[in-house]
Amino acid sequence: MFSVNIALLGYGKMGKEIEQIALQRGHTIVLKIDETNLDQLTVENLKRADVAIEFSTPKTVLGNIELCFQAGTPIVVGTTGWYEHFEDVKTKCNTENHSLFHATNFSIGVNITFYINQLLAKIMNGFAEYDVVMEEIHHLQKLDHPSGTAITLAEGIIDNLQRKTKWQGWLNDGTEEKPINTPDGLLIEALREEGIPGTHTVSYISDIDRIDLKHTAFNRKGFATGAVVAAEWIVSRKGVFTMKDMLSF
Ligand SMILES: NC(=O)c1ccc[n+]([C@@H]2O[C@H](COP(=O)([O-])OP(=O)(O)OC[C@H]3O[C@@H](n4cnc5c(N)ncnc54)[C@H](O)[C@@H]3O)[C@@H](O)[C@H]2O)c1
Repeated sequence: MFSVNIALLGYGKMGKEIEQIALQRGHTIVLKIDETNLDQLTVENLKRADVAIEFSTPKTVLGNIELCFQAGTPIVVGTTGWYEHFEDVKTKCNTENHSLFHATNFSIGVNITFYINQLLAKIMNGFAEYDVVMEEIHHLQKLDHPSGTAITLAEGIIDNLQRKTKWQGWLNDGTEEKPINTPDGLLIEALREEGIPGTHTVSYISDIDRIDLKHTAFNRKGFATGAVVAAEWIVSRKGVFTMKDMLSF
């Protein structure tokens, strides 16, 4: 396997996990940035890397993407909570001939779940007696809600199930009242519990039964491995890519 020089933008829970996987796969970490050494986050330093892997915060990710574009360094983005700016970033990346790989979830298991979720939504067009709801559970430090993964699942449902046209998020932490679910709406309930890396459940519920499509991450290894494989994949490519461009299903 070939070896690449990696800049880690964000050295928290994910950055540290990615470092382990990258070293195991024979790569070199040439830059590690967190909030304590932002003075080292320069275009000059980024130019020393073949690729950057970005797992920071919703507030800092856009600035980091811009810096990588300026440095001409391909960037893999795992940070969530910024996708309302996605179309602008995509246009800039394509018109200026940069490289961006983005995914709300890098794990193979979740990407299989994304695929099944779309198939299931198509099937459920024929069964109007079922309503659909979603639940996502994450650790207490997570800054955004609903999770990027839950939003991708919701978009997969809205694109394929005719009776649903919009999603609505609800953080169930005792501070918000449960929103009223409308027939065309998809309610995403977010729960925050100690130590949970990420659990997502799509449920179709009728008066007589319930179908659950559930993914449970046991740890962060799947996300980290996917991000490193994406970094290896994007070093030789220009444009905007996501997991379905890299996976063969
Ligand atoms: N796409 C996926 O598969 C996936 C999986 C897990 C987490 N995530 C997302 O990744 C992000 C990071 O998650 P985490 O659990 O590692 O969070 P974390 O809070 O543990 O780490 C965030 C890190 O970013 C650093 N940081 C702050 N400002 C920065 C800046 N300007 N530049 C670079 N780094 C900066 C912080 O110091 C910290 O080290 C979150 O948005 C999370 O939702 C995505």
